[in-house]
Formats: sequence, structure tokens, C-alpha cells
Amino acid sequence: MEAVVFENVNKVFARGEVAAEDVSFSIKKGEFVFVIGRSGAGKSTLLRLMSAQERTTSGRIWVNGQELDRIPEKKMPYFRRQIGVMQSDLGLLDDRTLFDNVYLSVIATEQQGRKGKRRVESLLRAMGIIDRARFYPREVSMGEAARALLARAMVIGPSILIADEPTANLDPDASWDLMCLLTELNRQGITVVVASHNQELVSIMRRRVITLSAGRLVADEKNAVYNVRAADAMEERRILHEREYRKQNGTLSDHSDRGGGQPE
Ligand SMILES: Nc1ncnc2c1ncn2[C@@H]1O[C@H](COP(=O)(O)OP(=O)(O)O)[C@@H](O)[C@H]1O
Ligand SMILES: [Mg+2]
Repeated sequence: MEAVVFENVNKVFARGEVAAEDVSFSIKKGEFVFVIGRSGAGKSTLLRLMSAQERTTSGRIWVNGQELDRIPEKKMPYFRRQIGVMQSDLGLLDDRTLFDNVYLSVIATEQQGRKGKRRVESLLRAMGIIDRARFYPREVSMGEAARALLARAMVIGPSILIADEPTANLDPDASWDLMCLLTELNRQGITVVVASHNQELVSIMRRRVITLSAGRLVADEKNAVYNVRAADAMEERRILHEREYRKQNGTLSDHSDRGGGQPE
């Protein structure tokens, strides 16, 4: 069974920035996948499309068998519980303890009370930060804060975890600890999708690696090491050059944005 399917997905933002171009791939339930590529390659957009935070310009996406464009608005809260999201623009609230930061997400699922609190505790324990439960974000290390973000993403009981550069601010030890936690969640059956810049970590992990370049999927390898060649600047320039050429010939003009994006 597929956890995620992208079929000819395009995403063009209001000012013409192409973040995804004819992207097709699928991820099986229980897989662990890295999404890599240079800054601006479209990693975050791909993850945000997957979690329905962003709508496609064209193409189709299925998550756990549901086509995203066909989920009725009133079923969205239920859909969102199937996907745990860890991304840097969704940080911890400074004025709440780690426990309360995680508990907030439990409240969103209406699982309040003793049961919800026990769930938060068990996750903080699993993440190795139960002794930091009553600390505020400024009182803990970056690694501990990252693990609290992971606990918050997982507390809703998702089957898929999406993490956008989860080790971006972490030193090598803390990065490695976080990868071990992601591996453990994956071993428990969670489908894990991680956007990462961290060449060394991606290489060590030997997992499936999807490489993006200028919005295009340029490589998809099992047990891969970081594909430096595919992520290479020359490849990006080649795609941009080709796109500019096609633009002048009008072939991209039918990808008008239907307003799902949020132009600043
Ligand atoms: N909300 C947005 N509005 C306009 N352009 C965007 C938006 N988000 C991303 N982009 C553009 O889409 C491209 C891919 O960005 P992004 O997905 O953030 O890449 P990455 O995460 O790989 O660095 C970039 O050219 C970026 O400028
Ligand atoms: Mg990004």
C-alpha cells in the first residue's frame, strides 16, 4: 500500500517561481525517504504539498489513498492527524514548557485529560527528554528542543512523519541522536520523509534518496549516498536554461496558479 503518491505534480507560485515541475513518485507505507537538493530546489514545497499546507498548480497527490484535492474541508482535521509535521517555521512557543507545547497538539485532537497527558509523557520519555518536561524552550539545548518538536509531531498519532531539515540547527551528536529517533519511529512502522542538507548523515543512513533540482525530480535511488552529481549546480543551470527556453516558446503558460499558494 502506498503512503504517498505524486502524479505529474506542478507548483508554480504567483510570480512564476517553479517549485515543482512534473514531479511523480510514490512512497510505500513504512518507507524511510530523504529528499535532498540545493537551497531553492523545492524540498520544502514538496513536503508542504504532501501535508496539504500548499495546493498543487496541477497534478494529483494521494496520501494514504485519499486524493488531497478531494478531501472535504470538514474532513481536513481528521486528515491532518495522519501526518506529523516537523518544520522550522512551526517552532516551540517560548512561554510554555516542553510538556505544554506538546500537550497543545493533543488538545487539537480533542484527546484532553489524563489519557492525553499520559500520551505526552510517554512520548517525552521515548524522546529522552522527560526530565525536561517542565523546562521552557530557552532552558533546553537545541537537540532537546528538536526532540520536543518531534514529540509534538508524533503526539497526534500520525502514520506519516514529515520533517523539513530537522537537524538544521544541530551539532553532529544531536543530529545523530535525532536520526536515531527517526529510525526508531520508522522501525515501529511510521513512514518517514525527511528533507535534508546534511550530506554526511544522508550518506551514513543508506536510505532511499529523492533528489530535486530546480523543482524537478532528477534522481531517486535506493540505499543511496548523497548524490553530489545530481544535486550539482550544473544540472540546476541546465534545467533553468531549458525552462527559460520553453517559457519563451509558451509551453509553461498553461500552468497558471489557481491561488493555493501564498505570495508574500
Ligand atoms: N510561498 C512562496 N511564494 C513564492 N515562491 C516560493 C514560495 N515558497 C517557495 N517559493 C519558491 O519556490 C522555490 C522552491 O523553494 P523551497 O521549496 O523553499 O526550496 P528548498 O526547501 O529546497 O530550499 C524557490 O524558488 C522559492 O523561492
Ligand atoms: Mg526548505
